[in-house]
Amino acid sequence: MILVTGGTGLVGAHLLYHLVKNEEKIRAIYRSEEKIEKVKEVFSFYRDNDSLISKIEWFKADVTEVPSMIPAFVGVKKVYHCAAFISFNPKDYREMRKINIHGTAIVVNLAIDTKVDKICFVGSIASVGDSLNSGLITEENEWNKEADNSGYSITKFGGEMEVWRASQEGVDVVIVNPGVILGSGFFNAGSGKLFSQVSNGFKYYTEGITGFVGVKDVVEVMIKLMNSSIKNERFILVSENKSFKEIFFSMADAFGKKKPSIKIKPWQTTIFWRIAWLISLLTRKEPFLSKYSARSAHSISKYSSEKVKKSLSFQFETIDEVIKRVCKNFISS
Ligand SMILES: NC(=O)c1ccc[n+]([C@@H]2O[C@H](COP(=O)([O-])OP(=O)(O)OC[C@H]3O[C@@H](n4cnc5c(N)ncnc54)[C@H](OP(=O)(O)O)[C@@H]3O)[C@@H](O)[C@H]2O)c1
Repeated sequence: MILVTGGTGLVGAHLLYHLVKNEEKIRAIYRSEEKIEKVKEVFSFYRDNDSLISKIEWFKADVTEVPSMIPAFVGVKKVYHCAAFISFNPKDYREMRKINIHGTAIVVNLAIDTKVDKICFVGSIASVGDSLNSGLITEENEWNKEADNSGYSITKFGGEMEVWRASQEGVDVVIVNPGVILGSGFFNAGSGKLFSQVSNGFKYYTEGITGFVGVKDVVEVMIKLMNSSIKNERFILVSENKSFKEIFFSMADAFGKKKPSIKIKPWQTTIFWRIAWLISLLTRKEPFLSKYSARSAHSISKYSSEKVKKSLSFQFETIDEVIKRVCKNFISS
């Protein structure tokens, strides 16, 4: 039996599709019924999805609540831990610690207690260190705890540390550290919002550079790593390092929309995130921009995925191919 956490999110939903397609016995945890509808939407983007979703055993549990998680582990041999809380809003820091660090500790402890064979953990490039000489960032770059890290970055690093603990306690682990994940579904949240914004004629762009990867590649690598003899290793998953300008322009092309034409400079975002913070204090609504999203819009970080390419002889889809497919699915949804 395979247990999937975060199955009602972007990565987890695509992972579930690829796992059930291979006729594996899958149990996926969920917190609310309506989120399972989102998974159905993701399955509908694949042509051969007929009734595959009915093969999943859905189990109501919360990774932060031990009593709900204990029965989810009965008979489980492999765990894909995708559940996390992604936010760049400082007010969410405590909740992120609870889900991303303590929730992962609970998953790890239960995996150790029930003698699970292997865990695949979805980390992030946010928990990989920067490059000091502006060269390509690899798995060897150490995360710097003294840097001005976002709460998300701190908690993803903390979660990864819990997973390394599992490897010390006799459970094999593989960790993937994806860049920004682009995929179909969940267009109102996370990276999915980029597609919604560009399709609505978003006019602005920045020239920061980061790593991007398609969700299909992420889940395919996860499954290959779990089915291999590779253990106790981490892998950066980035297909290409691109600027936000290039990404927005590709999306605009794929949607047949006008390309964003207004370049936002770093000093402008610095003002915007402060205004956003003030407005959020007054209205108690989510800020439209946070300090850390503003910073990442301009920072230049380039990643190498040579390790995974060599270890699995894996070729990533180009980001243009990913964007074209996701935009097509966006239009049809
Ligand atoms: N999206 C990206 O660009 C990106 C990039 C790099 C790494 N990652 C990592 O990839 C993983 C998956 O991300 P995603 O994009 O799929 O995120 P997502 O769409 O926001 O999904 C998060 C999932 O975690 C679940 N979850 C959150 N708190 C939980 C809790 N207390 N108990 C049980 N489940 C809980 C959510 O359940 P509900 O549906 O009930 O909310 C949802 O299924 C995360 O670890 C994230 O850090 C994402």
